[in-house]
Parts: sequence; structure tokens; C-alpha cells
Amino acid sequence: MKTTTMTLCASVLLALAVPAQAAGDPKAGKLKTSMCAGCHGIPGWRTAYPTVYSVPLLGGQHADYIVAALQAYKSGERKHPSMSGIAASLSDQDMADLAAYYASSYSGQAK
Ligand code: HEC
Repeated sequence: MKTTTMTLCASVLLALAVPAQAAGDPKAGKLKTSMCAGCHGIPGWRTAYPTVYSVPLLGGQHADYIVAALQAYKSGERKHPSMSGIAASLSDQDMADLAAYYASSYSGQAK
């Protein structure tokens, strides 16, 4: 009986956690920037691997642009060794949340 109750609770929680539409949530996006902040968010920052690249700042960028860029990396339409791998691991909801967060953070810093 206990298992049934727990399974039921878990399903209810899951149903609540999945939003009705894929609208970006800046608060959820902020929590997901931990995997982006190491490269993005430092003005003038360059990655040293696989070669030296300038890393574009995302803060203040349009949400639609960020989602389009991430989708393009994921589909292979746009290619970059680091970003292709990262975008491949993001769901549509992750992209929408990250885009909503970066679009609302004008300082250019991932705070
Ligand atoms: C290993 C370093 C690294 C990490 C980590 C990283 N990026 Fe990037 N990102 C880059 C580089 C370098 C570019 C520029 C690539 C190019 O020239 O296409 C880039 C480009 C982008 C672009 C396109 C920007 C533009 O102006 O066209 C977006 C959007 C983006 N990254 C989002 C993210 C998000 C969201 C995350 C976290 C989920 C993330 N990146 C994590 C290095 C990184």
C-alpha cells in the first residue's frame, strides 16, 4: 500500500513540475546557468580549448536569439565543439528558461 501511495505522490509531483507550455522561466534558467557561467558572463573571456575562442556575452541578448542559436547548435546547423555538445544536452524547456534568464540579465554577467 505504501508503494502505491508513493507512486501516486510522485506522479502528482511530476505533473506539477511539467509546465503547461514551454514558456521560459528566468528563475529556473538562473539555476541552469551553472554549466554556462564558466565560459559566458566574463567580459572579454576566451576559452583556451579546443582552440582560442572569444566567448560571446549572453546577458541582455534577445531570448528568441538565444533559443535559435542553441537549437542551431543542437541540430548541427551551427557548429562549435563546445556549444554543440552543451546544446545537445539541453531540452526545449532548458533553452527557454536559460534564454529568459539571460534576456533579463542586462549587466552581461551571469549573476
Ligand atoms: C566551454 C565553454 C562554453 C560553455 C560551458 C558554454 N558556452 Fe556557449 N559559447 C561558447 C563559445 C566559444 C561560443 C561562440 C561559438 C561560435 O563562435 O559559434 C558560444 C556561443 C553561444 C551562443 C551563441 C551566442 C551568439 O552571440 O551567437 C549561445 C546562445 C550560447 N553559447 C549559450 C550557452 C548556454 C546557454 C550555455 C550553458 C547551458 C553555454 N553556452 C555554455 C562557449 C561556451
